[in-house]
Amino acid sequence: MQSRVVPLEEDKDPVVTNRTTNHSKALPLRLFQILMLFLALCIAFSVISIYTIRRFGIQSVVTTVKSSFQPCYEEPNSLQQWIRPPSNLIHTMSDKELLWRASIVPRRKKYPFRRVPKVAFMFLTKGPLPLAPLWERFLKGHEGLFSIYVHSLPTFHANFPPSSVFYQRQIPSQVFLLFLKNRLEGEVKSKTGAIDEYWRCMLGFIQKLKVSEWGRMSMCDAERRLLANALLDISNEWFILLSESCIPLYNFSVIYHYILKSGYSFMGAFDDPGPYGRGRYNDNMAPEVDIAQWRKGSQWFEVNRKLAIYIVGDTTFYPKFEQFCRPACYVDEHYFPTMLTIEAGNLLANRSITWVDWSRGGPHPATFGRSDVTVEFFKRIVEGKNCTYNNHASSICFLFARKFAPSALEPLLQLSPKVLGF
Ligand SMILES: *[C@@H]1O[C@H](CO)[C@@H](O)[C@H](O)[C@H]1NC(C)=O
Ligand SMILES: *[C@@H]1O[C@H](CO)[C@@H](O)[C@H](O)[C@H]1NC(C)=O
Ligand SMILES: *[C@@H]1O[C@H](CO)[C@@H](O)[C@H](O)[C@H]1NC(C)=O
Repeated sequence: MQSRVVPLEEDKDPVVTNRTTNHSKALPLRLFQILMLFLALCIAFSVISIYTIRRFGIQSVVTTVKSSFQPCYEEPNSLQQWIRPPSNLIHTMSDKELLWRASIVPRRKKYPFRRVPKVAFMFLTKGPLPLAPLWERFLKGHEGLFSIYVHSLPTFHANFPPSSVFYQRQIPSQVFLLFLKNRLEGEVKSKTGAIDEYWRCMLGFIQKLKVSEWGRMSMCDAERRLLANALLDISNEWFILLSESCIPLYNFSVIYHYILKSGYSFMGAFDDPGPYGRGRYNDNMAPEVDIAQWRKGSQWFEVNRKLAIYIVGDTTFYPKFEQFCRPACYVDEHYFPTMLTIEAGNLLANRSITWVDWSRGGPHPATFGRSDVTVEFFKRIVEGKNCTYNNHASSICFLFARKFAPSALEPLLQLSPKVLGF
């Protein structure tokens, strides 16, 4: 009732005016109380949520909690929400949604905030990362300059302690089992007996599933998925694809500066006139892909943000490869090198910086174990090389190497301070 009376009497009765000022004094107090109550609720809620997450680690809880306690510490429309890296990697986007989201690019060249460029190390693995301790040592002390992403089989549950750089860095993965199926079948055929019982079992399981349900480009799909997840952090400037058997060949500072100062992205891309190169080209790919643009290269790449966005943004070449690059055309050897040569050939170094040894022959590169890892071995990898870096001759040509077996870990850790510089 009072609220209706007050405005009516306002200009007549000074006492009433007085009363309204009293009222308006009380109002901030009341607001303040409400605010405090809200704040208390927020804090209580955060405590409860943190406890729940710790206790149960349920992903749906993580997502709801995230959106509901944001107003507590952040204005809803501040720039922070665009530039802060996602606090955890769990999201509910489908591949289609994720690729779309990741291909959103600012048109302005300069960032209106201090941006420290980071290197995203993206691990594409079957399951565990046996060389993780070496990577931990390599990355130690360089927090803020890198981020980690791991794409493993959804059935594999990583078990890293909270102190690890790999802790909760697994991206939500849909299945890339087709790739595994092909790879495992290949391995089972090529060296019967050498394959783990576990993988033989896994292969049996995979073979029973309906493969047609998954994309045929599964290997490239997994790589695009990794890139897209890494692109969500706007500070990531370089994207390094690695496997569980890769190692770094120099300390972090050397690798960081080599990569960041490079004017070219490192994607192996060459024109192979033979049956395993141009021989795999299909005329139906024209006019999008001409045979003169057809390239081949290893899948282990190092690309900058611009090229990563070309990769996740591509809708022109993807359907062509999906339809016309089928075995014996291996899509992971041709899709990215060809697509990037067409879209941004002048930005490619056309070489990979991941060393691998094909000299033993056969369909798989050599794997190095405990007895291979010696000082002389590393001399052979690193020394006497000659390549082009930013249009100049350089003797540092490879920053990473593969493939190393789990048994190589111990000698690697022993030699790394002396030979690898970390
Ligand atoms: C990294 O290695 C380079 C060359 O081997 C060396 O000059 C540099 O001091 C090392 N950096 C650190 C932080 O150890
Ligand atoms: C890589 O190859 C493309 C053509 O395929 C060429 O335009 C580019 O200059 C090459 N890059 C370098 C660093 O030579
Ligand atoms: C590397 O090759 C280039 C051109 O072939 C040559 O000019 C340069 O001296 C070589 N560098 C080394 C270290 O061999």
